[in-house]
Amino acid sequence: MCGIVGYVGSEQAGPILLDGLSKLEYRGYDSAGIAVRNDETGEFQIVKAKGRLHELYIKTDGGRTTKGTCGIGHTRWATHGEATEINAHPHYSDDKNVVGVHNGIIENYQELKEKLTRKGYSFYSETDTEVVIKLIDYYYKKYLGTPVDAINHTLVRIRGAYSLAVMFKEYPGEIYVARKDAPLVVGRADGASLCGSDVSPMLKFTRTVYYIDDLQLGKLTKDGVTFYNLDGDEIEIEPKTVNWDAEAVEKCGFEHFMMKEIHEQPKAITETLNAYIKDGVFDLSAAGIEDDKLKTYQRIYIVACGSAYHVGVAAKYVFEKMAHVPVEIDIASEFRYRDPILMKDSLFVVISQSGETADSLAALRLVKEKNIDTLAVVNVTGSSIAREADYVMYTYAGPEIAVATTKAYSCQLINMYLLSMAFARAKGLTSADELDKLIKALYALPGQINEIIGDKERIQWFASQFSTSQDIFFIGRGIDYAIGLEGSLKTKEISYIHSEAYAAGELKHGTISLIDKGTLVISVATQDALYEKTVSNIVEVKSRGAYLMGITNSGNYNIENTVDFVVYVPRTEQYFTTSLAIVPLQLLAYYISLARGLDVDKPRNLAKSVTVE
Ligand code: F6R
Repeated sequence: MCGIVGYVGSEQAGPILLDGLSKLEYRGYDSAGIAVRNDETGEFQIVKAKGRLHELYIKTDGGRTTKGTCGIGHTRWATHGEATEINAHPHYSDDKNVVGVHNGIIENYQELKEKLTRKGYSFYSETDTEVVIKLIDYYYKKYLGTPVDAINHTLVRIRGAYSLAVMFKEYPGEIYVARKDAPLVVGRADGASLCGSDVSPMLKFTRTVYYIDDLQLGKLTKDGVTFYNLDGDEIEIEPKTVNWDAEAVEKCGFEHFMMKEIHEQPKAITETLNAYIKDGVFDLSAAGIEDDKLKTYQRIYIVACGSAYHVGVAAKYVFEKMAHVPVEIDIASEFRYRDPILMKDSLFVVISQSGETADSLAALRLVKEKNIDTLAVVNVTGSSIAREADYVMYTYAGPEIAVATTKAYSCQLINMYLLSMAFARAKGLTSADELDKLIKALYALPGQINEIIGDKERIQWFASQFSTSQDIFFIGRGIDYAIGLEGSLKTKEISYIHSEAYAAGELKHGTISLIDKGTLVISVATQDALYEKTVSNIVEVKSRGAYLMGITNSGNYNIENTVDFVVYVPRTEQYFTTSLAIVPLQLLAYYISLARGLDVDKPRNLAKSVTVE
């Protein structure tokens, strides 16, 4: 969704804002703009462009046509009003006294627009953002107060989810920021202050950041940052150090972030394991979770969206088999509106890479109101979900830029395995030897993933044969079904080929009628106990003319009697096969997208961080 950057310091702001916006491109956008306050004239130079950031880059000569050391920038993902230059941010008050950018949605903007119209304001765009900026201007003039007063008056009146960065002509060298239920981070560097929708635009300058809370406000100047509450009183916010480096947000020689991130999986998994396993013993105390507490939970609810939900589907099989805990899993946007009946002695687990997904956050809040313990599995430090859950089990994937998740998904799986092992240990269901064996298997995963990636050319060849497919079906049973769900989502989101995943046994209850001569069916068969059953289902589709790709464990050579193309993955513990079998499917989706000449990292209509419901 929209991205915000801001810079105030001694350097020219324009090129820094453009560079910062390029780090936020992954969030998804359809227009962009910057506003820089000219240090000499005090006027704002506002430049906007529809389409890719490149258009804005050309228009501003990489930001150099704007002159000034204080500015804000924005990538817009259209919600209120089409993706046009007029609707692009920054927006400004009639006299260009107040200029600002916004991420999120203002629910009561119509009512506020009417009020402002009655007060003599006119509107040039269809956006809710213009309404907010003009409301700030209205309060600024009405109460003759400071920017902090004007913004606070506005925050009290607006409803919805938002983050804002605003400049005032009469306050040179100052940027004001505020947020509610949408991400915004403030960074402090030597002689400069920055803000961003996440830390990636500021990593070149600093790793010292401040996470402001809902309805708090920040003032950024070259010399420092000051924070305020809704009453306008100064408040202290603890600075935090980010452990991501600037390289993490560069492609480092890879053609796309997605391929880089596929290659980063072994490292990300090792770092995630190392966070919870010390000297061969695993311990979730870093997440505040004690075995004694786990013993008390009778069931687990897992709620998430998209790929994170697929992690939950795989985890359900692991928890139920390994730890004998019943698991209920739901999609966050469904869960939050279905009046779920929740039992007290339960643990609610929300999984989210960004930690800002609106539906997942709403589900978490709903559960918290019912006094049920909540655990977040989150990648972004200081994100809303991480801050609001009772326990946080971070994943250590580093920044994930490609819209299609790979390494964060893989790390989420690791956390769920560890949580399941902790449950099994707490309930006395597993011996120390068995746990040692599982830990060894977990540490073997990075090397095994590297082996799979090492064979990527074979998958590239296969992808080139099927890049013009109309439909691709994925089938599997148990954990293999969960793998198929994720493989299918990866394929459709970046290749735009229609794809569906089915529990293999369900196919003949309707969907098999879609199988025709040459239809590509990808069957996942990594579970020994279900292998023969899945093979029977493969035979069923084969006899309807399907072209079969099979993914199975090394050694299951008899699959070659049935399928046309096989990818063998190394053997691991039955619980962990998702971590290996997903890698060829990530590569397949990547190469199909590449063969079709699509924008792999930024697929159409999608945003990385879905901060609206
Ligand atoms: C697909 C993908 C999405 C996300 C989903 C949840 O590749 O990345 O389906 O998994 O939007 O996002 P987070 O994990 O940030 O809550």
